[in-house]
Amino acid sequence: MIGDSISMEKVCYSVGGRRILEDFDFCLERGVNRTILGVSGAGKTTILKLLLGLLQPDSGRVCIGDVCITGLSETRFLEQRKRIAIVFQGGALFDSMTVGENVGYRLFEAGQLSVRAIERIVLEKLSFVGVEQAVNLYPAELSGGMKKRVAIARALAADPDYIFFDEPTTGLDPIGVYNICNLMQKLQAEGKTTLMVTHDLITAFATSERFTFLHRARMIFEGTEAEMKESDIPEVREFLRPTEESLFV
Ligand SMILES: Nc1ncnc2c1ncn2[C@@H]1O[C@H](COP(=O)(O)OP(=O)(O)OP(=O)(O)O)[C@@H](O)[C@H]1O
Ligand SMILES: [Mg+2]
Repeated sequence: MIGDSISMEKVCYSVGGRRILEDFDFCLERGVNRTILGVSGAGKTTILKLLLGLLQPDSGRVCIGDVCITGLSETRFLEQRKRIAIVFQGGALFDSMTVGENVGYRLFEAGQLSVRAIERIVLEKLSFVGVEQAVNLYPAELSGGMKKRVAIARALAADPDYIFFDEPTTGLDPIGVYNICNLMQKLQAEGKTTLMVTHDLITAFATSERFTFLHRARMIFEGTEAEMKESDIPEVREFLRPTEESLFV
């Protein structure tokens, strides 16, 4: 069983000579659904990749439960890592596989369950997200909203404790946004902990209790929706209510 938090301590990360994160501290406690906010290009996706061990920090530590994963090989922290799933920005489905094969992919790879058992899980997860009728279709045959739902079903297949969502509602119409928010709330009610990165405030406020605001490589705010709305930090105020002055920033 994973420990009860995922954390970053004093993480620095640069790419192409540009500092993306500077002494970044972060904690996702089990059971506290959180959103990381920040403008486009701020480094939100980078944070998720660091938490998953897909990127290594230049300095600082990333811990999953009690295990510091920084510098560990993937196989060494796989036991911890498999308690976390991610729904990538854009879905990242395999185009050459059907929806069902996409959702069952990791279970087939793990080779621990029979084909029948995997098929049952695939249908259960697809039905949870409301697209079981698409099981034999290919990603190219789906709408954007359906792709996102299939990507969520795929993330759920391994029954993770934590689910990361990278911009799950970007590009969806209001009904699509509502559907995804609803799904996230259903997962939370089942005891999953969600971490979302987004710049979409409607989705953020509908699904999260706490918020982390990233600006110029640093966390400049951490707190509840009410605290954020009352914040006098200029960047936070501007993000919530852009003004004409924002045009010249
Ligand atoms: N492989 C790379 N090489 C060079 N720069 C990169 C690379 N990957 C990311 N970056 C830069 O790092 C910064 C942070 O990227 P990241 O994808 O984490 O931003 P983001 O906050 O998720 O943005 P968005 O909201 O647009 O998805 C961006 O400015 C990006 O241009
Ligand atoms: Mg991103």
